[in-house]
Amino acid sequence: MKEQFLSIKEAKIQEKGDVAIRGWIYRVRSSKKLAFIVLRDVTGIIQCVVEKEKVGEELFLKADKLQIETSMEIKGVIKADERAPGGYEISVTEFNIVGESHEFPIQKDQSPEFLLDIRHLSIRSRRMQAIFKIRSKYIQTREEFFTKEGFYRFDTPILQPSQSEGGSTLFEVNYYGSKTYLAQTWQLYGEAAIQSLEKVYNMGPTFRAEKSKTSRHLSEFWMAEMEAAWFDLKQISEFAKKELKYCIKKVAQDCKEEFELLGQDPKKLLEMCEKDWPTIKYREALKLIKEKDGIEVDFGKDLRTEEEKAITSHFDTPIVVTHYPVEAMAFYKPKDPEYPDEALCFDMLAPNGVEIVGGSQRSMDVEDMKKRLEADGEDVKNYDWYFDLRKYGGVPHSGYGIGIERVIAWITGLDNIKDAIAFPRTMLRWKP
Ligand code: 4AD
Ligand code: MG
Repeated sequence: MKEQFLSIKEAKIQEKGDVAIRGWIYRVRSSKKLAFIVLRDVTGIIQCVVEKEKVGEELFLKADKLQIETSMEIKGVIKADERAPGGYEISVTEFNIVGESHEFPIQKDQSPEFLLDIRHLSIRSRRMQAIFKIRSKYIQTREEFFTKEGFYRFDTPILQPSQSEGGSTLFEVNYYGSKTYLAQTWQLYGEAAIQSLEKVYNMGPTFRAEKSKTSRHLSEFWMAEMEAAWFDLKQISEFAKKELKYCIKKVAQDCKEEFELLGQDPKKLLEMCEKDWPTIKYREALKLIKEKDGIEVDFGKDLRTEEEKAITSHFDTPIVVTHYPVEAMAFYKPKDPEYPDEALCFDMLAPNGVEIVGGSQRSMDVEDMKKRLEADGEDVKNYDWYFDLRKYGGVPHSGYGIGIERVIAWITGLDNIKDAIAFPRTMLRWKP
């Protein structure tokens, strides 16, 4: 067929008359004289009706044998039809099979694990399509945000010589006989960059050998990070709120259909972005759950899932929790000079109880960082280059990282992070 093809959405906008479209068969059924093909493309679905009388015996025989996921070109006449899925119907005059499909392995009600085993095929579902459209829009919007805010994008290596977020979650790589590691964060290189570009951001694959099989942990995920010279804890945590509000608002406005397809109300997200997102201290958070939920946590521990869930249950927006205990924090998070057992750091917790952002002011105290690294069993020599950043004109600076999958899972209402990434990598899964 040599035609000017329209997308399904464009064909519906045209409303009537001749159209040519192309896509994949989403559903198909036929009787003696009629075949109903629901075709999908990236813009939607539309029912196409093949009538034996109109297309002739030979073509109808072909239509009768069509199976789902066959790709095809269809020519016909479009009209509004309330009964048809999607509100329009095409009466087919001609069609052409582009790629045949036989016994597509995905039928109704298959287990999530099976769908993950054939992820290369299951990403075609309308649900997955909606999630990935939202994810794509989110990331495009984030680029726009940082461009507007005058930041520079700064790209850094994934193969790195040392840890930054604790040795227990490092993936080791044999690098021509030497040991290197997959990036746990972009941060240390971001810190080098602020001495040149002042305000930088990035997003890249990030790796954690997490030995936890939870619904919030991936072994490979995408972290969206930023680092800014001169920013302190207050500024950086407010900036994190601004970034998230900007991106979520835009996505909620532009992806209404996708949210609805996923059973989510984008209006709720928009309303949430108009509210103030509170900031509380870790100590206040502990007090809150002790008084209201009877959960007792001793100062000094990082928060566990159950505690994070309890804290966020008292709010209807994301919240920022600051001043976690120094002893539970990474070596680069500085002590608060007024309360030296508290770190100048923050996490943002989403209303579903999941940590979506982690950030801090960065320590300028090389001796203290060395002590903390040594206590972790690290060879401080590996960090000489990082300490140089303090030695040569170091300035106060701060930054944070956002787990993209955790944000997408939260705003799209997924109970598991795995569907927020195309090909998830977890402790038990690294294929396809
Ligand atoms: O809190 P994290 O570990 O912070 C850092 O790595 C800092 N260096 C970031 C920075 O300051 N530039 O990770 C940041 C965020 C978490 O809040 C979480 O959203 C996400 O990254 N994250 C994960 N997401 C999925 N699977 C995992 N295993 C994750 N680990 C962290
Ligand atoms: Mg964290």
